[in-house]
Parts: sequence; structure tokens; C-alpha cells
Amino acid sequence: MNRIPKHVAIILDGNGRWAKKNHKFRAQGHVHGAFNLRDVAKYANEIGVKYLTVYCFSTENWKRPEKEVNFLMKMPPRYFEKYWNQIVINSNIRYKVIGRRDRIPAKLLETIERLEDATKNKTGMVLTLCVDYGSQDEIVSAIKNIAILYKENKINLDDITPNLVDDNLFTKGYPKLDLLIRTSGECRISNYLLWQLAYSELYFTDTFFPDFTPDKFKEALIDFQNRNRRFGGLDENK
Ligand code: IPE
Ligand code: IPE
Ligand code: MG
Repeated sequence: MNRIPKHVAIILDGNGRWAKKNHKFRAQGHVHGAFNLRDVAKYANEIGVKYLTVYCFSTENWKRPEKEVNFLMKMPPRYFEKYWNQIVINSNIRYKVIGRRDRIPAKLLETIERLEDATKNKTGMVLTLCVDYGSQDEIVSAIKNIAILYKENKINLDDITPNLVDDNLFTKGYPKLDLLIRTSGECRISNYLLWQLAYSELYFTDTFFPDFTPDKFKEALIDFQNRNRRFGGLDENK
């Protein structure tokens, strides 16, 4: 496959509705979502995607019933422990986790730090899990960092450029976002990568995330390959 996007993001949505459709509990939908993410990430890495950035838990998801929030916080430590060999030892995927860290329970924080540390020298795709992530929060923290630099006379007003903003986001150093996929039929961005989405291609599918298998991911890549990206310029083929 040619023209593989370097950086793909996914809003993993529809776990709950998938569960309902299959007469299961919402929690089971999240478990199936996690298994599917493993398969999609493996495929993306094999096909040559360099960065896959996925929305796992938003700054607004704390509003959900306590039982569901607790499950979402407890599931990843168990999941990674159980499949550590398969996911970490026998894979070349590098994990990064972005978002706020001050509200995450200690056990999950420990898993996150262990995962990042154990995979820091891996040479494959960077898989970024966005946990307690909100793009508006991220932008506000970038603004605060830049305000401090200005206040301390480390930069002038003219030094405030899109590149400086990029460098103060959690995604510092990541390539431009080529493609954003959202599953489950919702056509909105919610609170995801608002700054990074400039000129990204958007792909919405009705498929619920647990059913968004590598084959379906491949269909999204094929769709992307047929897009005509102009970045504000003119189409060279016309
Ligand atoms: C996405 O699935 C996972 C999280 C947001 C944690 P949802 O849980 O939002 O599933 P739906 O949208 O209710 O079907
Ligand atoms: C977006 O899904 C957040 C994640 C996938 C983590 P939601 O299900 O929370 O989004 P809304 O509320 O439908 O926009
Ligand atoms: Mg949802």
C-alpha cells in the first residue's frame, strides 16, 4: 500500500452501544474495544503507520456513572498485566500516554509509567493513549507555559508562533496529523486534538469501535489515499 498516513488518530467510540446491540454489559463493550485496539494497532504498525493516537478517556468522561468510571480506571492495569508478554515484550510498539495525570488513580498511573518505561526504546509505531485528555485543557496549559516564558523575558511577542504552540502541546515532536477516524456514527470532534486537526482528513464510520477491525481500518486508509490534499494551495493535477 502506498501513501500510508504517518499519523492517524482515532476517537474510539461506540463500545457501549456495541454492548447493547450484543446483549452485553457496557463494561464488556470496553473490554472488546481494548482487544480490538490491540489488533488495529498491530496492523497499523505492520503497514507502516508511524503514530497512532487514540482517545480512550476524555476530561468529560468523569461525568459518567461512578461504576463505569471505576471500571475504566481498573481495567487497563489488569489488561496490561495479563497480556504483558504479548503487548509489550513481543512487540516493537512504543507507548505514550497523554492527558492530565493528577486525577488518575495510583494503580493506573503506575501501569502507565511502567508501560512507557518498558517500551521507551522500541523502534516501531508510537501508540499514544489519550487518558483524561481534553484538547481545550491541553491548549490552556500550552498558553500558560508560553505566558510564563514571556513573563520571564525568555521570549518576545514575535516568538509566539504556531511552532511554539506545537512545542508546548502534549504532542510535541509528533508529525502532523494526517487522518482522524471516528467510529460509531457521531460526526463531532468532542474535545480531541483541536489544534492538531488543521488540514487533517476526517473519516466518520457508523461501525462501533469493537467491530472496527483491521479490515475496516484498512478501508479508512484506502479512502484517505484517494483524498486530494491541497493545504490551501491548488491541485497540481488539474
Ligand atoms: C467509547 O465508547 C469509550 C469511552 C468513551 C470510554 P463509549 O463508552 O462512549 O460508547 P457509547 O458511545 O456509549 O456507545
Ligand atoms: C469521546 O467519546 C471520548 C472518547 C472516545 C474517549 P464520548 O462518547 O465521550 O463523546 P460524546 O459525549 O459522544 O461526544
Ligand atoms: Mg460514546
